[in-house]
Amino acid sequence: MENIIEKIQKLKKERRAVILAHNYQRPEVQDVADFVGDSLGLSLQAASTDAEVIVFCGVHFMAETAKIFSPEKTVLLPDPDAGCPMADMINGEQLRELKAKHPSAKVLCYVNTSAAVKAECDLCCTSANAVTMAKEVLKGEPEIIFVPDQYLAAYVAEQTGMKFIVWHGFCPTHAKILPEDIEREKALHPRAVVIVHPECRPAVTHLADKVASTEGMCRYVQESAATEIIVGTEVGIIHRMKKENPGKVFYPVSEQAVCPNMKRITLEKVLWSLQDKVHEVNPPVEIAKRAYDSIERMLNYRPK
Ligand code: 13P
Ligand code: SF4
Repeated sequence: MENIIEKIQKLKKERRAVILAHNYQRPEVQDVADFVGDSLGLSLQAASTDAEVIVFCGVHFMAETAKIFSPEKTVLLPDPDAGCPMADMINGEQLRELKAKHPSAKVLCYVNTSAAVKAECDLCCTSANAVTMAKEVLKGEPEIIFVPDQYLAAYVAEQTGMKFIVWHGFCPTHAKILPEDIEREKALHPRAVVIVHPECRPAVTHLADKVASTEGMCRYVQESAATEIIVGTEVGIIHRMKKENPGKVFYPVSEQAVCPNMKRITLEKVLWSLQDKVHEVNPPVEIAKRAYDSIERMLNYRPK
């Protein structure tokens, strides 16, 4: 009897599909994927693939972003309930109300937002290009709204000297990482370097040697001479880091840093998704059209 991985590989060919997985996915899902990366890398892969079907092993906003940019492709999310609680902290109506209070403000939104929110904004960024985009596109603007992540906004503000009108959203997974977790791990592993994601609280990013997107963290780990690394993000990323750096040791800052939504995707669901062509992600066409420009600009800002 064929095992599940063989079935997935066979169906993938039949369907002319590609499997994209975020760095926080379960190890076995990462291992079956054609590409594993951060939000920006996954969006770029989705945009450039000639596959007809994209099986997106991530959360809803990621699959939705891919669909908006490539409306001719079928984009499948193996679990339709894999959402992002931070993205759900603001909707289109709430952003319209905020804009009405600041009618001349430019609006920068994190990619972790719904299509309805992206449709209301001027620019969209990921954690990989937020600092560059803010500096190169928005510096000098008298008023800038940044939604929904208050901590990413705080990080970009620190890096650029800019000021933002923020929304008080946050990632519940990264908010679980506390400064005392970093202090404890540093005391336990004094030779280790500390890398964290900018969705962490400022009190946490201030203690890090490197703050980066998940792809930036993977790159840093490969390029750094350090052999011990304290990892301040969702624990799933350590699977890839270990695979790419067999001689290095990784310590999760907090075992609590697990994104339950990312973990909803399993190998079985990937198989069913290919078998039954479910669950298609299809944002309303009018909203998708209005969100397109901000996504296109985001894809043009790649980290150096
Ligand atoms: P990146 O992978 O783009 O760094 O973002 C992390 C994230 O928010 C996924 O939840
Ligand atoms: Fe959303 Fe946080 Fe999960 Fe990323 S880790 S999908 S920001 S809840």
